Amino acid sequence: MNTASLEGKVALVTGGAGAIGAATCNRLAAAGMKVAVVDVRGEAAEEVATAIRDQGGEAESYAVDLASEEAIVSLAAAAIARFGTIDVLHNNAAAVDGGYDRDATLLDLTSELWDHTFAVNVRAPMLLCREIVPHMLENGGGVIVNTSSGASQIASDQARTAYGPSKAALETLTRYIAAQYGTQGIRCNAILPGPVMTPGLQALHTQEELDAVVGRTMLRRFSVPEDIAAMVLFLASDDARQITGQLIRVDGGRP
Ligand SMILES: NC(=O)c1ccc[n+]([C@@H]2O[C@H](COP(=O)([O-])OP(=O)(O)OC[C@H]3O[C@@H](n4cnc5c(N)ncnc54)[C@H](O)[C@@H]3O)[C@@H](O)[C@H]2O)c1
Repeated sequence: MNTASLEGKVALVTGGAGAIGAATCNRLAAAGMKVAVVDVRGEAAEEVATAIRDQGGEAESYAVDLASEEAIVSLAAAAIARFGTIDVLHNNAAAVDGGYDRDATLLDLTSELWDHTFAVNVRAPMLLCREIVPHMLENGGGVIVNTSSGASQIASDQARTAYGPSKAALETLTRYIAAQYGTQGIRCNAILPGPVMTPGLQALHTQEELDAVVGRTMLRRFSVPEDIAAMVLFLASDDARQITGQLIRVDGGRP
């Protein structure tokens, strides 16, 4: 992968304190990018930024609740003021903090959980794009990578009745943005991870359940956060210059 084009460029990563987000911040920083690490868990985001700086990289943390439009507008302005621009926007945060267990079947679902899930998983990426795309256009282009989920396509009979549809909406938003700004140098893609071995996933499932999941993949191997980070880096790089509007699965091959 040729990542020379990313050297010195700026990435903003939401959910940057989480398992996949932190791995992605680290991978982008290792490729020479400056990173804005955004998360509602400010202290954890600062730890990620500090670790990057300790390695000689450049990073700044931002404690932001992405459910708030006002906070998103301020974030975009602050990050652009700090770094001068945003070249790569990685919308990765998701309202999994509400608890997958609360996001149950239809009859248990509350409007509050549905609205919060959509606010963080779909409205926040839309708002961040709306704030940052004008700066990308001024600079002649940019890259947007959204983290969706296989849950948009594979329905669960037990849970995630808000999460799944929110990710499907994020995927459609991805394609609309790609269609609207492609000729002006902006590429927008979504990654659909399958189950990724993260503390969050491990807290939700027994080892037996996890073994059953991995047993259904073609590679019989669990994804790790670094697998998703590698795809973000590739999509951000000029090697992916002909790829936009795509929904790309990184899941060990699910039939
Ligand atoms: N882990 C998996 O198996 C898996 C599978 C498919 C898709 N995904 C997706 O990958 C992405 C990252 O997930 P992860 O597994 O690293 O989970 P994670 O919980 O480790 O990370 C999510 C991060 O988002 C942050 N966040 C949540 N609500 C927020 C808000 N309102 N404002 C700002 N930050 C907020 C959390 O604090 C957390 O750090 C998510 O979009 C998730 O839907 C994960």
